[in-house]
Amino acid sequence: MSVTAVIGGQWGDEGKGKIVDLLCKDVDIVARYQGGANAGHTIQINDNTFVLHQVPSGILHHGVTCVLGSGMVIDPSALAEELDTLAAHNIDTDGRIQISYGAHIVTPIHKAMDRATGHIIGTTGRGIGPAYSDKARRIGIRAVDMLDIGQLGQYVLKRLKLGIQQGEFNQEQLKDLHGEVETFLYAAHRVAPMLADTIAILHQALADDKNILIEGAQGVLLDVDLGTYPYVTSSHPSVGGISTGLGLPLQKIDRLVGVFKAYTTRVGSGPFPTELDDEIGKILQNKGAEVGATTGRPRRCGWFDAVAARYACQVNGFTEVILTKLDVLDKLDTIKVCTAYEMGSKSVPGFSAAAHSLEQVTPIYEELPGWKTDTTGLKSVKQLPTEARRYIRRLEELMATPISQVSIGAERSQTLAL
Ligand code: GDP
Ligand code: IMO
Ligand code: MG
Repeated sequence: MSVTAVIGGQWGDEGKGKIVDLLCKDVDIVARYQGGANAGHTIQINDNTFVLHQVPSGILHHGVTCVLGSGMVIDPSALAEELDTLAAHNIDTDGRIQISYGAHIVTPIHKAMDRATGHIIGTTGRGIGPAYSDKARRIGIRAVDMLDIGQLGQYVLKRLKLGIQQGEFNQEQLKDLHGEVETFLYAAHRVAPMLADTIAILHQALADDKNILIEGAQGVLLDVDLGTYPYVTSSHPSVGGISTGLGLPLQKIDRLVGVFKAYTTRVGSGPFPTELDDEIGKILQNKGAEVGATTGRPRRCGWFDAVAARYACQVNGFTEVILTKLDVLDKLDTIKVCTAYEMGSKSVPGFSAAAHSLEQVTPIYEELPGWKTDTTGLKSVKQLPTEARRYIRRLEELMATPISQVSIGAERSQTLAL
C-alpha cells in the first residue's frame, strides 16, 4: 500500500498532469482534493493531447478509480463536456468517477459573478472564487443537492434572488443565464449517479492495501493562505488541503512530490520577482509553449525562483521534487537562478518575510553556464550534459530537497530518473 501526493510547487502549470500520469503505474485510485475547472492538466500520449480540468489524470489508465473530493468546487456543465471529450477519445469513464456528496457546486450564477469581477486579479472565470465564498458564507449548493433536480433548481433560483437583493450583480451580467441554467440542471442530472461516500472509499482502499495517488491542482504560491494573497486562487493546493479536501489523514502519505518547472511561469496578475520582460522571457514562452491550458492566455515567464521554491518545500515538507521542462532551457548560453531577495539595501531572510510585499523585492541572481545541447531525446541521466547536471544539483541544494526525476519533454518517455 502506498499513498503519493503530487503538488504544484510554483504558480501552477508545472506539469502536474504529466507527472500524475507517469506515477499511475499500479495505482488503484487517483483523487483530486481542491480546485475545480480552473485547472488544466495536459497529458501528451503519442499524437493525442488530453487536457483535463476536473477529472483526475488517472482516468487515462484503465481500471483506475477517480475521486473528486469534498474540497473541490464542481461545475457539472463543464464536467459533462469533459466526459463527452473523453468518450470521443474512446476512454471509458463508466463507473470510474466518484464525486463526494460534500463537494460544492459551481452554478452559472457563480460563473457570471466571476466573469464580472475576476479581471481584478485575472481569474480563470470558472466561478471558483464565488463558489468557495458561498461555501464559507454557508449558503453554498453542494453535490448532494444534485440528488433532487427539482430542489436544485429552487436553490439556484433562491441564490439568484439573494444576489439581486444584495446587489452582487446586475441583470446585464446575468443575460444568457436562462439557457445556461437549463444546461446546468441537465448536466447535474447526468453526473448525480456519480455521487458517493468518497471518504469511505478512500479509507476502504487504505484498509485493503491499495495504492492511492493524490493530484493537486494550481500550486503552493496560489494557496489562499500560503500564497501571494490576494493574487491567489480560493482553495488550498498545499498539503493541508489534502486532509480537509479528502478526509485522508496526512500521516498516511508516504511520498510527497513537489512538481517544479526548471524556470517560473505565472498566469494572471500579481507580483513575480523573477519575471523577464525581454528576449529571454519570449524564448521561454515560445519554446515552453507557455499558453494557459484552460484560458489560452499567455503565461508570464521568468527565471527559477529558489527563494520561493525553498519556501514551497518547507511549508509542504516535500519528500522529493520532480523538475519539469528542463529542455526549454536547452539553447540558453547562461541561466540565472534567484538565490536571495533584497528589499531596499537589506537582504530578506526568506520568502515568508517578503510574501506580503513581494512587489518591492529585488531578486539576487547566480549565473550558471547553459548546456547548449538538445536534451529531448536523452534516455538516461548519464547522458545529460555536465552543465545540466550542475544546474539540477544547484536547485536541489537551494531547495534543500532531493530531485528524483527530470522531465525533458511532454511525453511519458521523456523523463529521466536521477
Ligand atoms: P499542469 O497544470 O501542472 O498539469 O501543467 P499544464 O498542463 O497546464 O502545463 C504544462 C505544459 O507543459 C503542458 O503542455 C505539458 O504537455 C507540457 N510539458 C510537461 N512536461 C514537459 C517537459 O518536460 N518539457 C516540455 N517541453 N513540455 C512539458
Ligand atoms: P493548474 O491546475 C495556473 C490562477 C489564475 C489567477 C488565480 C485565481 O492547471 O496548475 P481562479 O480562477 O482560481 O479564481 O484564479 O489563479 N490559476 C491558475 N494558474 N494554473 C492553474 O491551474 C490555475 N488555476 C488558477 O490565473 O491568477
Ligand atoms: Mg495547468
